[in-house]
Amino acid sequence: MQSIAEPALAVVVGASGGIGRALVVGLRQDPCFAAVHALSRRPAGLALPGVEEGRLDLADEDSIEAAAALIANREPVRLVLVATGMLHRHGLQPEKTFKQARAEHLAESFAVNAIGPLLVAKHFLPLLPRKGKSIFAVLSARVGSIGDNQLGGWYGYRASKAALNMLVRCLAIEMARTHPDAVCVGLHPGTVDTDLSQPFQAGVPPSRLFRPEESAGRLLTVLDQLDHTDTGGCFAWDGSRIPP
Ligand SMILES: NC(=O)c1ccc[n+]([C@@H]2O[C@H](COP(=O)([O-])OP(=O)(O)OC[C@H]3O[C@@H](n4cnc5c(N)ncnc54)[C@H](OP(=O)(O)O)[C@@H]3O)[C@@H](O)[C@H]2O)c1
Repeated sequence: MQSIAEPALAVVVGASGGIGRALVVGLRQDPCFAAVHALSRRPAGLALPGVEEGRLDLADEDSIEAAAALIANREPVRLVLVATGMLHRHGLQPEKTFKQARAEHLAESFAVNAIGPLLVAKHFLPLLPRKGKSIFAVLSARVGSIGDNQLGGWYGYRASKAALNMLVRCLAIEMARTHPDAVCVGLHPGTVDTDLSQPFQAGVPPSRLFRPEESAGRLLTVLDQLDHTDTGGCFAWDGSRIPP
């Protein structure tokens, strides 16, 4: 990343996921970053030089606080990327209609997709230097855009990503008061071939189904190009702005 002062640390939360893993691999090849901290609930098992792995469960705030404490007082953290997320789990599929709404699935979607990333911000934003560009980015989704919603359905996923986008906007406003160069954004990675999208890939043309490393590379390029004037927004893999 040409826009980041070195030497710096990068942190990826959700390093065991399809896109998270590819982001770690991409960042570790970037000379701007002295080391990459790869945090995940399930061991990511990356075993790569320059990558330090650690445990973080979004449902356990103590684990988030402990992971941040281990990184504090080292090189400045210039990039925190939250690559966690949930669309389906334990046989719970995204709702096609309001008639399928289930409280526990909705609550879990909000816990993983919105509340968890906010708790990561709570413990990691204080590590960002006040001067110079630093980035807090979370993987959101185009379907979290209210303005872009023409299809409906996926109630829990859409609503929790819309909530995430609002949280990012709030974080950006608050951070701008003390960190004028900081960039705090949501990202849409495109449709990416991972466990999350696997059950829904049938109608996706091959040219629109990205490999994780392809998406990760594009997202890192987008982050490199953003500056403080973009903070608070949500951006797609091609750099285009997604409406709120
Ligand atoms: N793939 C796509 O087409 C697509 C499209 C639009 C947006 N996105 C977004 O991109 C992000 C990454 O998705 P992906 O495709 O890489 O999915 P993925 O392969 O299923 O990875 C999801 C990641 O989230 C982690 N996670 C879930 N719950 C967690 C918790 N409580 N604590 C800590 N980590 C937790 C998983 O950890 P475990 O390994 O421990 O389960 C895993 O690392 C998500 O936010 C998703 O909404 C993806």
